[in-house]
Amino acid sequence: MERIQQALSKAEEQRRKIVDGAKPVASSGHGDVSNAEDSNHSSITYSKTRTVTVSPNTMLDNRLVAGIKGHPQADTFRVLRTKIMYKMNQAGINTIAVTSPNKGSGKSMVAANLAVSLSLEVNHTVLLVDMDLRRPSIHKYFGFQPEYGLADHLSGDMEISSLLVHPGIERLVLLPSGNPIQHSSELISTPMMADLMEDITTRYASRIIIFDMPPLLHIDDALIFMPKVQSSLLVVEEGVSTPAEVKESLRLLEHTTMLGTVYNKARQHKQSPY
Ligand SMILES: Nc1ncnc2c1ncn2[C@@H]1O[C@H](COP(=O)(O)OP(=O)(O)OP(=O)(O)O)[C@@H](O)[C@H]1O
Ligand SMILES: [Mg+2]
Repeated sequence: MERIQQALSKAEEQRRKIVDGAKPVASSGHGDVSNAEDSNHSSITYSKTRTVTVSPNTMLDNRLVAGIKGHPQADTFRVLRTKIMYKMNQAGINTIAVTSPNKGSGKSMVAANLAVSLSLEVNHTVLLVDMDLRRPSIHKYFGFQPEYGLADHLSGDMEISSLLVHPGIERLVLLPSGNPIQHSSELISTPMMADLMEDITTRYASRIIIFDMPPLLHIDDALIFMPKVQSSLLVVEEGVSTPAEVKESLRLLEHTTMLGTVYNKARQHKQSPY
């Protein structure tokens, strides 16, 4: 019993260390609605964008670790960021779709961490868009509940500027999806979506846009949207996606610049600390 108590105390102490060491990329602020992303990315002000505060504990609980100083997995996302930036710079690309063959592979977790990791670099801003209109989840990773989102814009009556959320992390803005909807593929095909893409991809020269996508196989939303995006990152879950599904997914993404694959939820393998 005593040993269990000791183990629990040790685990709690370790957790506290990570939380204390977490350089809160999050800051406070409670502005509300309407756009305010300044074109000067080194001094962005969010005077009207809704701001939410993400605590280090929320980040840890949600595996949003890229911004937590000293967290062992933050390095993983730094390496991913570097590889991706290299390919994006070479190809002159600023839009990335994060997708996977099947559901639940970790797309949103990867997209959210990648967005945070990229935003820690000072030379660009990042917009993370929740493109999973049926099962939105980006807001959960940042610990808030959006009243409205992209789906409300595409249905016709809400300005994008009133839907953006600043998670208190410098240079990062989120576009949540809003309440889940079922007729998502129709909305994705509307001229509103085409106009939106034109606007968000050209408005700021040094902005990277990450789309958290639904899975590629089984529903058509991702397939409909993919031609609008320049590059893709495929998340593959160990023991779930079959080789045939991965092959089929790569074929479906052929027309984009493939930035790479993330092999997620892998069991621990013996490996060098590097
Ligand atoms: N490497 C990992 N280790 C353990 N759990 C993980 C890992 N990656 C993701 N998860 C967990 O798996 C669940 C699914 O992750 P996530 O929501 O990112 O998947 P998804 O591919 O976006 O799912 P969906 O297809 O529903 O959009 C979440 O609870 C997440 O915290
Ligand atoms: Mg998801």
